[in-house]
Amino acid sequence: MLFVTPEYNRSVPAALKNALDVGSRPYGQSVWNGLPGAVVSVSPGAIGGFGANHHLRQSLVFLNVPTLQQPEAYIGGVAKLLDEAGNLTHDDTRAFLEKFLQAFGAWIEANGRRRDA
Ligand SMILES: Cc1cc2nc3c(=O)[nH]c(=O)nc-3n(C[C@H](O)[C@H](O)[C@H](O)COP(=O)(O)O)c2cc1C
Repeated sequence: MLFVTPEYNRSVPAALKNALDVGSRPYGQSVWNGLPGAVVSVSPGAIGGFGANHHLRQSLVFLNVPTLQQPEAYIGGVAKLLDEAGNLTHDDTRAFLEKFLQAFGAWIEANGRRRDA
């Protein structure tokens, strides 16, 4: 599961938290259990949603989502990196995201879906 989130008050939007919570119940039947994950955070500012990224990771620890550690993906100044249609405008951003997704692909291969909790 690839989580891509903006930052709201140093955390994630309520809709994303709600999706995590709904999927985690009934207790013992969480859809998240053992599902390999990765996090991309975006914001218009320079910090790139660091707070959202790490607040989300706190929930993912409890939900037993083995989450990609490196490379980290904090996409700052995101409005300048996309055109009006949402396409990437910078080759270095594209190259970074390709590297990120290759690492995530290897992470999925390495972790599969563990059901050990
Ligand atoms: C309630 C609210 C809180 C926000 N808090 C932060 C924040 O803590 N840090 C940040 O960098 N951007 C913050 N932003 C800016 C959002 O990350 C940015 O506007 C993002 O593009 C929102 O996307 P959305 O409107 O599609 O949800 C906030 C925006 C809103 C609406």
